[in-house]
Amino acid sequence: MRKRIVAGNWKMNKTYEEAMALVSEVVNMVKDEVVGETEVVLCPPSVFLTSLKQYVPAGGRIALGAQNCHEKASGAYTGEVSAAMLQSIGVQYVILGHSERRQYFNETTAQLAEKVNAALANGLTPIFCCGESLEMHERGDYVGFVKEQITQSLFHLSPEQFASIVIAYEPIWAIGTGLTASSQQAQDMHLALRQHLASHYGDEVAQNTPILYGGSANAQNAAELFAQPDVDGGLIGGASLKSRDFTTVIKANK
Ligand code: PGA
Repeated sequence: MRKRIVAGNWKMNKTYEEAMALVSEVVNMVKDEVVGETEVVLCPPSVFLTSLKQYVPAGGRIALGAQNCHEKASGAYTGEVSAAMLQSIGVQYVILGHSERRQYFNETTAQLAEKVNAALANGLTPIFCCGESLEMHERGDYVGFVKEQITQSLFHLSPEQFASIVIAYEPIWAIGTGLTASSQQAQDMHLALRQHLASHYGDEVAQNTPILYGGSANAQNAAELFAQPDVDGGLIGGASLKSRDFTTVIKANK
């Protein structure tokens, strides 16, 4: 059985007080409600990770994730955070290749391959994002494009390394827009990506890789998306900033 995961990507939101209030609400609600086997990952801005850790019970169903890491181990890279630093403060996951990082910070598939290597070398689980733009979606050739993103940044990994990868399919046209992929569109893409993984790594690896959906997933539509056989949870932006909405999304992931 592959892992089911709901990850909250807070992006560049919240002040210190707001972040501490949100994490304590989420921790209380997740404790009180039935989350089943779902792993919950909170990905706040990195400046808050250490403080958030104090609110998250050790060994529980909530883990911490970063939103990015640098590909180099250490050195003169002003403003950057390494995978080793994240690992040293108890972070378990790192989002890599988010479309906003690709778009605004010019991250390339080759650079992302290096970031994936750095994360894995430090025991972090990459949540590797992929997805097509609206323009590509309308042209209709997007499945090949998304497969290629995966090929270029991940297929150098050994099957053993790939066992630590989580994929998040996030159609760019659905991120923060209120436009969600239909559950059928999400399922079709997730199945195509799983078949792509199987073509390179074989069925067992493909069947064990969690593939999350992201892009305007929320308290209203999560249950239908998560009911699809190849949708193993979600990467949640806007709806992760409100504890009640986020908890409803977590509960929908059964
Ligand atoms: P959204 O963001 O849920 O606000 O669309 C998802 C993401 O960018 O990870």
